[in-house]
Amino acid sequence: MSEQIASVIPGGVDSPFRSFHEVGGHTIFLERASGAYVFDVDGNKYIDYLGAWGPAVLGHSPPSVVAAARKALESGAVFGTPHALELEMAEQLIAAYPSIEKVRFVNSGTEAVMSAVRLARGCTGRDLIVSFEGCYHGHSDAVLVSRQHRASSGVPQAVAEFTLQVPFNDLPALEQCLAANAGQVAALLIEPVAGSMGVIPPEPGYLEGVRRLCSAHDTLLIFDEVLTGLRVALGGAQALYGVKPDLTCLGKALGGGLPIGAYGGAAWIMDHLQPLGQVYQAGTFSGNPVTMASGVETLKLLSEPGVYQTLEARAQQLFQGLGETIRKLELPVQLQRVGSMFAVLFAPGPVKNYRDSLVIDAGRFAEFFHQLLDRGIFLPPSAVDAACLSAAHSPQDIETSVRLMSEALRSIA
Ligand SMILES: Cc1ncc(COP(=O)(O)O)c(C=O)c1O
Repeated sequence: MSEQIASVIPGGVDSPFRSFHEVGGHTIFLERASGAYVFDVDGNKYIDYLGAWGPAVLGHSPPSVVAAARKALESGAVFGTPHALELEMAEQLIAAYPSIEKVRFVNSGTEAVMSAVRLARGCTGRDLIVSFEGCYHGHSDAVLVSRQHRASSGVPQAVAEFTLQVPFNDLPALEQCLAANAGQVAALLIEPVAGSMGVIPPEPGYLEGVRRLCSAHDTLLIFDEVLTGLRVALGGAQALYGVKPDLTCLGKALGGGLPIGAYGGAAWIMDHLQPLGQVYQAGTFSGNPVTMASGVETLKLLSEPGVYQTLEARAQQLFQGLGETIRKLELPVQLQRVGSMFAVLFAPGPVKNYRDSLVIDAGRFAEFFHQLLDRGIFLPPSAVDAACLSAAHSPQDIETSVRLMSEALRSIA
């Protein structure tokens, strides 16, 4: 099937990392996903830590989410007009994110970030943005500039020049950058927990410092919570760390498995969007009833007591078990996580920024990945991307995972 699909889809994939190009070997073709498990076309079952690259925070296909989406689909997949589920979704989202007074729904994280950046530029009248080395914000031109694990040709130099980059977790570098470009920076775009260069938490006080510098320079602070939103807490990293951005981008988990993005913030900023203001953004499928129904039900389930405690308990169980193995074997492996997003990094010391992440041993990770795949555990096929636990993983799943991951680590030690 790999060869057949590669003859009609470039690389055989609709998104590059699905191809296993970083870990080698042939990608797996999945047929079904349910709860904490995925099943391939050859009848193999895996305990899943890809989580579809983030969305599956409740596990795959929670029955009530499927039922809500099915019901909406039967009443019409897309209207091209406002509808009640959109209102319900917006109200629920705003209740969970106090920094958001108004929100627009789009269809992907890429679209959310692209739109938020345009809005920030339109509303400040400034052109520059600042982003962070190693952070990933989707594949629009403005954010696919150099110094990250995914760079691209085809981004005009003239466009890239409007994006300045500084190292993550380095406040003096940011201070210097904003001072050198005073009055010109529309927005600072940051993943509050960096998810695609190892899972890197902000150092204590860092996000507060970022907030302070943005306010001092009248620069809008955009939190890209496409991955962290609804994952590290219902209210995202901004709730976890108590820092309020001006604009927030969401995606992944918000749609309950269906394609979604969202961006929102204070009304005075959001009201710059057409038809009220002058900033244009639109979308045929944006806010469609099927995704909204799925999202409303997902937000309801995530609001139930105990979900995030369960995620934290499972993640702790996993890291405690793995930590013991790594200590015993004296392996140069770093375990990094925030809530249910985690990384097993083959690096000699903690990874705190992009430069640190460059020493991660991708070859060692590839061995680990395949050892696990053979044993029935599916990690992201990337040495630096966040793996994702779900609330559907049972203590027994974690116990099995610790045993199999420890076996794999022993065999490559
Ligand atoms: C932090 C972050 N922002 C943006 C995106 C882009 O989202 P999408 O793949 O839905 O376009 C991703 C996807 O991996 C992400 O992790």
